[in-house]
Amino acid sequence: MAASLRPLFLAIIPLLMISSLIRSSECQGLGFYWASPEDGNLADICNDHTNGSYEYVAIACLNFTGAISVPPYCTTLGPDIDICQGLGIKVFLSLVGSPDLSPEYVLGTEGFICNEFLNDSSGPSVLGATVNGTDFHFRSGSNNSLDLLAQALRDNCILDDKKVYLSAAPRCQIPDYYLDAAINTGVFDYVWVQFFGDPVRIGPGNRQTQVNTN
Ligand SMILES: *[C@@H]1O[C@H](CO)[C@@H](O)[C@H](O)[C@H]1NC(C)=O
Ligand SMILES: *[C@@H]1O[C@H](CO)[C@@H](O)[C@H](O)[C@H]1NC(C)=O
Ligand SMILES: *[C@@H]1O[C@H](CO)[C@@H](O)[C@H](O)[C@H]1NC(C)=O
Ligand SMILES: *[C@@H]1O[C@H](CO)[C@@H](O)[C@H](O)[C@H]1NC(C)=O
Ligand SMILES: *[C@@H]1O[C@H](CO)[C@@H](O)[C@H](O)[C@H]1NC(C)=O
Repeated sequence: MAASLRPLFLAIIPLLMISSLIRSSECQGLGFYWASPEDGNLADICNDHTNGSYEYVAIACLNFTGAISVPPYCTTLGPDIDICQGLGIKVFLSLVGSPDLSPEYVLGTEGFICNEFLNDSSGPSVLGATVNGTDFHFRSGSNNSLDLLAQALRDNCILDDKKVYLSAAPRCQIPDYYLDAAINTGVFDYVWVQFFGDPVRIGPGNRQTQVNTN
């Protein structure tokens, strides 16, 4: 758990696992997973080039434990998000916590995510800025209906003025209990595998993560 609160670096290679197509590997960019203010100031992270420039930042700002909630420290991230996006960095809203969704619940939830966090036309976002995509980052709770949520976001959150991205952050065991069915819908633009905090494959301290993208 502690490892998930630290920065991690994502080297991106084209997707091999969730598609039957075999493509050549190539490093495409770095991402940063921002779990809380302990990880540092978001704008500073986006401006920092010591480890290479980030192309993606995922912010753990929608908690699915019980009633959906936004951590208080996320509501002031707007100016930082604007700075990151001004640098060309795609900002993802990471869905975290312990979900237990029903199919009925998904339909309201997908509209809420779309209009509160992604849609530039539907008023000020809870975060103070809109994001570019939604990242599925669940490691507890139930896998119920997470595939439906991913599909609903892809089908229903279509915005005229910008591309809406979807990403998933499974652990490296296949299948990933939480995200396998969701990934198999084929709707994700990026799958960044967590090779950190996984005692089965790597051990708890490793922060290196490889990213697969389609
Ligand atoms: C850059 O990498 C170093 C070594 O891994 C790490 O300590 C530091 O936090 C990183 N900086 C940023 C902004 O990610
Ligand atoms: C989500 O919220 C629950 C309940 O408030 C809290 O215990 C948990 O730490 C939060 N999870 C994350 C990843 O922020
Ligand atoms: C985005 O917001 C506008 C203005 O409220 C609304 O008309 C539109 O339907 C929304 N788009 C989606 C995909 O929800
Ligand atoms: C990310 O979202 C912001 C706000 O809607 C937008 O200005 C920016 O062009 C988007 N970036 C990409 C790469 O789509
Ligand atoms: C949830 O996980 C179980 C056990 O791996 C699997 O059989 C089931 O298909 C999964 N359901 C969803 C919606 O991911």
